[in-house]
Amino acid sequence: MPHTVLRRLRTAAAATLLGATGLLPNIGAATPAHAAPSPAAAVHVTNPFAGATGYLNPDYAAEVKAQAAADGGTLGALETQVAANPTAVWMDHIGAITGDATHLGLQAHLDHALAQQQAGATPVVFQVVIYDLPGRDCAAIASNGELPATDAGLATYESQYIDPIAAVLANPKYAGLRVAAVIEPDSLPNAVTNQSKPTCATATPYYEAGIEYALNKLHAIPNVYDYLDIGHAGWLGWSTNMVPAGKEYAKIAQATTAGFASIDGFISDTANTTPLTEPFLTNPDLTVGGQPLKSANFYQYNPAFDEYHYDTQMYATLVSNGFPSTIGMLVDTSRNGWGGPARPTALNSSPTTVDAYVAANKVDQKPFRGDWCNVNGAGIGARPQSLPYGTGNPIIAFLWVKPPGESDGDYPDASHPHGDPHCDPNGTQSDGNGNTYPTDAIPGSNVPAGQWFPVQFRQLVQNAYPAFGGSSGSTGPTAPAGLTVTGTTSSSVSLSWTAATAPAGVTGYTVYRNGTKVTTVTSTSYTDSGLSPATAYQYTVTAQDTAGNVSPASAAVTATTAAAPGGGGSSGCSATYAVGNDWGSGFTASVTVANTGSTATKSWTVTWSWGGNQQITNSWNATTAQSGNAVTAASQAYNGALAPNATTSFGFQATYSGGNSAPTLTCTAS
Ligand code: BGC
Repeated sequence: MPHTVLRRLRTAAAATLLGATGLLPNIGAATPAHAAPSPAAAVHVTNPFAGATGYLNPDYAAEVKAQAAADGGTLGALETQVAANPTAVWMDHIGAITGDATHLGLQAHLDHALAQQQAGATPVVFQVVIYDLPGRDCAAIASNGELPATDAGLATYESQYIDPIAAVLANPKYAGLRVAAVIEPDSLPNAVTNQSKPTCATATPYYEAGIEYALNKLHAIPNVYDYLDIGHAGWLGWSTNMVPAGKEYAKIAQATTAGFASIDGFISDTANTTPLTEPFLTNPDLTVGGQPLKSANFYQYNPAFDEYHYDTQMYATLVSNGFPSTIGMLVDTSRNGWGGPARPTALNSSPTTVDAYVAANKVDQKPFRGDWCNVNGAGIGARPQSLPYGTGNPIIAFLWVKPPGESDGDYPDASHPHGDPHCDPNGTQSDGNGNTYPTDAIPGSNVPAGQWFPVQFRQLVQNAYPAFGGSSGSTGPTAPAGLTVTGTTSSSVSLSWTAATAPAGVTGYTVYRNGTKVTTVTSTSYTDSGLSPATAYQYTVTAQDTAGNVSPASAAVTATTAAAPGGGGSSGCSATYAVGNDWGSGFTASVTVANTGSTATKSWTVTWSWGGNQQITNSWNATTAQSGNAVTAASQAYNGALAPNATTSFGFQATYSGGNSAPTLTCTAS
């Protein structure tokens, strides 16, 4: 039984601790002490990243360089720059320890790291991700592991996975390297927030026992540094999640032989896309239209808007739970850049509702903060670096843990049964409050977890923030601006954009549909035909010059083809309902209205009937009227006109008692 195993392990660990010292674990030690330092070992420093360089993984560099060579031009030159950055090596299954024909094994990687260290004057940090827990990825399907959440699975994890990894790392030959182990992404955050999912409830005792075992084995090796994964701001940022998380991490630490000293620090944003900072949304309590910014639908009362604030708050929480103040916080910045043309460049203070204000100012372009699989529009973030905020800040380094360009997961489709619906670009996500959102996965590809995803890599480079640059980057064409959908039929989408400029002269434009090249044209407009009815397509355009340089991609536009002829007219709209906050006796909601027709609307009206006693008390961006259960919401003078595919939204506050299920909306346009 899982619980028996767990209790046995915990009791043994606690007995060792008390037997050794009769005291609480080693709280506040400036440098964690280790029982048996090897004579050849480097000192276990507080910040292993300071004064060190990171390991450059040859397998990853080869993937990057192959794509850079295939893409060529300016884009290829920018892509090449990615290969110069250290990334983590993922031990994502037992077989990864020995490697295979195309992937180096752990020992081979360490030999390369040693060669890189000997070639340079500074120590090399080898980053390894420990990622094979029994019942792995319990809240999703994308990265389900090879080991079941059973006693046998745990025994295999310990003897076939952790023990062999520890044996390789403990080889005295590698004692001069610094090894940073990122331990089991997502596992303890799932233990904190996803106990209502049976797979997570079953897996949690094995996660805890497995991580305790890993910490005991790895901490015993003096040049290994242990960092536990803490999810990201959009996951544990609410105090109702952060407080229990602090207790969970302390419980894990206290159950290990060395107690708090077995954990060197924590890492946030692993493989995620929450930005480091939201430069124009710095105060979650700023009031707009009478509401604090954190009440916006995007934040759902989570005050941690970015990783900087999240890590700072989590650090304080962890220290208050007994961790020494010397713990270091790390951020995976591999894909949280959010650059490119969609990034706001200045504060826009004119919106008068929190939702509109947040939408106008956030750099995080996801429609929903919980979107995580192959997120569309994300870019590479800050380059790996130590002490990004100087000494004395809890954040001690930025790493690239998720190698940019490797997929997060695939999804089931007609030709392929495996996968996770969260990775389906046409699928939806739920926020746990009954609201659904698009997954925002990059359309047009279906790539299994960990495999190379060329469309994603291209996008991550083009949307990097800070941008990649250099001389080759500045001589090519500018990105085409103003990409607009000028018309749709049931089988075609027409586009136009503004001419790009280049010192060498622009020779043409390449149009991409769902990330795949469609055509190259010399004009600044194009009609894509032969499409399916009532289907969403995403387009971007690049420009090329006489020298073969390719510009960054334009901002993307999405167009939905009209319904098949006979299935309705050419004017129409749809309305989508989302509850923002529900406090049991009242709630706020927003409704997004989209023009689904092929001609512009002049006005629109959304109607519905409440299933309960909901009563609207005030509204914004629409004229609402309620009579009994029936509600009518009409556009206002400034938001009735919508181009085909354009959207606008309105919102309201209402009271209720009893149930509050979402109504079915009807939208009519004129
Ligand atoms: C996958 C791993 C992969 C890693 C790095 C994870 O999401 O599950 O298999 O090694 O990403 O790309």
